[in-house]
Amino acid sequence: MAKDTKNLVGKPITFKILRYDPDKDTKPYYKTYQITLERGMTVLDGLMHIKENQDSTLAYRKSCRMGICGSCAMYINGLPRLACQTQISELNSPVVVVAPLPNYPILRDVVPDLDPLFIKHQNIKPYIIREDKAELEKPTGEFSQTPEELERYIQFSYCIKCGACLAACPTVSTSDLFIGPQAGAQAYRYIADTRDDGFNERLQVLDDKYGVWRCHFPGACSEACPKGVDPAFAIQLLKREIVARRFGFKSAPKPAPLAPKPEKAERRPGIPEAPAPTVGQ
Ligand code: SF4
Ligand code: FES
Repeated sequence: MAKDTKNLVGKPITFKILRYDPDKDTKPYYKTYQITLERGMTVLDGLMHIKENQDSTLAYRKSCRMGICGSCAMYINGLPRLACQTQISELNSPVVVVAPLPNYPILRDVVPDLDPLFIKHQNIKPYIIREDKAELEKPTGEFSQTPEELERYIQFSYCIKCGACLAACPTVSTSDLFIGPQAGAQAYRYIADTRDDGFNERLQVLDDKYGVWRCHFPGACSEACPKGVDPAFAIQLLKREIVARRFGFKSAPKPAPLAPKPEKAERRPGIPEAPAPTVGQ
């Protein structure tokens, strides 16, 4: 039975970290370090402690330290996770094994080369595409949306580009060319947006043998996502959208709401009304 490491505060924890310097090493190897577990210590805190006090050559990525930037995604005790959001005490193990995200080349130590993630993201044109270019140049009104229209894609817009979903995906592990969960979720985020006209521009990438049809829906990407995005669901919605449009529908029927609708909340006293739109009146 796993030990409850909450009881190990003040006691030694072993970090087993994959090390690899392409200028010196012929292949990656593991190196171990001992630290003393402090209350509230995350895996990233542990790595920083090791770098500052034991081995300044250790390389890892981090920036925000609050689960926002996505740069600290690593393979921690067998799962892709954000190091800054992973409490050592919650791993239930006195040994913390840290490796770079699988399915990416290693740049150095636990730093993966995220080019495959960003190239796939770029390929699906992750921005609003409009046919009415003149309206974009000289807007005559706001591109407003109803709350229901926003609900169709909002959860997919929470992606922080950490790359954990690609690391978890069994299809990516067998084919570098597969579009992958992150780009799939972002493609749906824009296609489901009522302000976007870019479906046909993205179709060549999506409706391809390495596009959405290669996803067998194992769902590992959605399990791995630290922000609650559901890329596996987005890819199934893309399949539905492609088929619907092929049979002559402008768009697939609206999917079921992604989250239960909250009861209409009473406006709290003292909270002002939102300001009126500034154009299009
Ligand atoms: S979908 Fe989730 S796991 Fe994938 S890159 Fe975005 S935030 Fe990370
Ligand atoms: S350091 Fe930014 S998400 Fe972890």
